[in-house]
Amino acid sequence: MKQEAKRNSAHPSIVGNVGDIPLYGEEGFEGMRRAGRLGALALDMLVGAVKPGVTTLALDQLAFEFANDHGATPANVGYHGFLHTLCTSINHVVCHGIPAERELREGDILNIDITLIVDGWYGDTSRMCAVGAISRKAERLIGVTYESLARGIAAARPGSTTGDIGVAIQTYAEGERMSVVRDFVGHGVGRVYHDAPQIFHFGKPGEGVELRPGMIFTIEPMINLGKPGVKVLADGWTAVTRDRSLSAQCEHSIGITETGCEIFTLSPGGLFNPTVRLAAAS
Ligand code: MF3
Ligand code: CO
Ligand code: CO
Repeated sequence: MKQEAKRNSAHPSIVGNVGDIPLYGEEGFEGMRRAGRLGALALDMLVGAVKPGVTTLALDQLAFEFANDHGATPANVGYHGFLHTLCTSINHVVCHGIPAERELREGDILNIDITLIVDGWYGDTSRMCAVGAISRKAERLIGVTYESLARGIAAARPGSTTGDIGVAIQTYAEGERMSVVRDFVGHGVGRVYHDAPQIFHFGKPGEGVELRPGMIFTIEPMINLGKPGVKVLADGWTAVTRDRSLSAQCEHSIGITETGCEIFTLSPGGLFNPTVRLAAAS
């Protein structure tokens, strides 16, 4: 999301707060499990439809129908004037790509980002897809982005801070000679789409807010092969790398537990990381 956070309204599922950050109990975790799982199931369906010649608009149509068929509301439709269910971000598009008639081509890398609302709970998740065979550097980028998210999640536990998540992501990605996008952040999620806290994907140890059980937020690092700079195109949405280098992103919605965290948007089919399948195929 853009660096702005809407305040959550009072809801009985909110059992406490740390400043403007709501704390959720079992009801919230159960709601997020259902919303997160459905979003992940939608992505499992969509990755099966990704192939050369398919348009991102066709993928969007599939996602819209999936939401309808499962009694869910696509959160992106009507969000600040966005008209589609998915964000589809190809190659040097960092995030918020708009589904269009553009056909996927062999070698493209694609991020699909979906948020489904189930009984008022927002499950926000995105992952990377490879269109046919992709270059080694694209494969490496996707692998590093996936591992960045995994390391951010591993740092998400009571007593660590939002900054510790950023450090884990930044240290790893930059160690792989890639760069972390600064202009977009992870965000609190739950009864509203974009809430406090903001989750930076870079930072300093101990910085930010101390994590507490019941906090629910996304981690969604965007990693570039080149420089971190981005710009938003004239459509007001599409963010691209300034140097036109390839960019990748993946996103989970998680909740802080007593001992660590729970991931709400795991892929039921084990399809979150496409480089696992690429490695198996080669
Ligand atoms: N799902 C995106 C996020 O992770 C937000 C997309 S907003 C849209 O925060 F309007 F572009 F769809
Ligand atoms: Co998000
Ligand atoms: Co998202």
